[in-house]
Amino acid sequence: MEIAVVKGDILNTSAELIVVGLYMEENWENDFVLSLNECVGGKLKKKAQATDFNGKLGESLFFAAGPETSSDYVLVVGLGAQNELNASSIRQITGSVFSTASRLRVKTVALELLGEDNDEVDAKINGRAIAEALLLARYEFNAYKETKKTIQVNAVTIVAEDGRDARKAERGVEEAVTVIDGVTVARDLVNTPAQDMNPERLAESAEQIAKLSNGRVKTRVYDREWCAKKKMGSFLAVAQGADTDPKFIHLIYKPTGKPKGKVALVGKGVTFDSGGLSLKPGKSMETMKCDMAGAAAVLGVFATLARTTPRVEVHGIIPATENMINGKAIRPGDVVRAMNGKTIEILNTDAEGRLILADALGYAAKLDPDYTIDLATLTGACVVALGEEISSLTANDDEFAQSLLAASSTAGEEMWQMPLYAPYRKLLESDIADVRNISTSRYGGSMTAALFLNEFVEDGMVWAHMDIAGPAFAERPIGSFLGKGGTGYGVRTLTAWLATL
Ligand code: BES
Ligand code: ZN
Ligand code: MG
Repeated sequence: MEIAVVKGDILNTSAELIVVGLYMEENWENDFVLSLNECVGGKLKKKAQATDFNGKLGESLFFAAGPETSSDYVLVVGLGAQNELNASSIRQITGSVFSTASRLRVKTVALELLGEDNDEVDAKINGRAIAEALLLARYEFNAYKETKKTIQVNAVTIVAEDGRDARKAERGVEEAVTVIDGVTVARDLVNTPAQDMNPERLAESAEQIAKLSNGRVKTRVYDREWCAKKKMGSFLAVAQGADTDPKFIHLIYKPTGKPKGKVALVGKGVTFDSGGLSLKPGKSMETMKCDMAGAAAVLGVFATLARTTPRVEVHGIIPATENMINGKAIRPGDVVRAMNGKTIEILNTDAEGRLILADALGYAAKLDPDYTIDLATLTGACVVALGEEISSLTANDDEFAQSLLAASSTAGEEMWQMPLYAPYRKLLESDIADVRNISTSRYGGSMTAALFLNEFVEDGMVWAHMDIAGPAFAERPIGSFLGKGGTGYGVRTLTAWLATL
């Protein structure tokens, strides 16, 4: 989809659908509203009154355009209170504009640069928010469809009144295109069925990202034997039950010039989670191709790095395996030894994410990163706690946590912090090993999972854990611009956060 920014008059822009916004406190006698009224055949006020349109967020008015207009339809959207309009409401408005446009089956849309008259917000941020929502809404995954239901909208013109705003908004659109490319990589990876998205395919995708990076990204892929030499007993314990080979994937991005630090991004790459011998019920297994969404987010970020060029060295670490049940599968009660030497009593083979992350964190520790972030579809308990749209953040450093929360809010991905609550560590005490892989309590499962991971975080490491089990895969649409399926959750937050370093 083409997104162009032009300086001009929205009401004289040529497109099938023209979209303008009105604030709650709009003066309905101003020149703009008067000419808008002309465009819609003089019916603006009458229709607004009839449908109780007051410019509130979420309200809209739809018109067939008058005969002397360059468009077929005019959509008026409520912008809410002028001082409340922000990137997040702009994304929501733009998402609903997009769904109206696709329902109308129009190809071209002209949308005014929302919030241009609002001094509080920057034209670049608004242009970026508009483009992000458009590109996220435009996503479709048709690889497995014989009859493809394709969206018609293919050109959107963002119209700014002011030339400087237009140029700023254009830069915002460019940034959006880059980051949403990364999000799209992640969504495609998650949406691809597990039959086709196994550890090897994940590794190939990492190699592809390196190939397309102009030499900025390097990828190394390690096999089972290498992992055994590195003593990754916990990762290999999960992998031993699968007939497909596991892969341990390491991506490296280096900035030009001296790096301003080193970041490790660790992504859970369980390409299918059957639960293992602690088998999942059928219903819970339906979406388990999404259990590599953490890995997908890391790959999505790496797909953007050659263009976003952060000033830090970035390492992507992906333990990739299926969680299956062949005759060699780990049994509840088995004890394994992780790379850092700690022994784990595996009492539930469905708590496999933390087992593979234990060794990925052990591996990350050896790189001596300044910051380590893991992303994982780790616990159903997190979804119980925060629902389907919000991820949890757990960190061992509060300043670091705050910087990630700020990035998530800039990016428009919902994230709430949970405590790394030391007293619950006792719930992980094992009778025969250093730690057990599930809590002895049925409550607080996302916190005990984080505490388990913490056992494999080396002293002095600044670490954060994002449990993305809810928002990584949308079983119903999230907001107005994210449809069902893989969401690419995390790519936008991490990209925004890396830009702050
Ligand atoms: N992959 C699941 C977590 C999950 C649940 C992801 C729902 C996405 C949506 C994970 O491996 C798992 O099965 N966790 C168990 C842990 C339990 C056995 C302690 C869970 O949450 O039930
Ligand atoms: Zn599981
Ligand atoms: Mg979900």
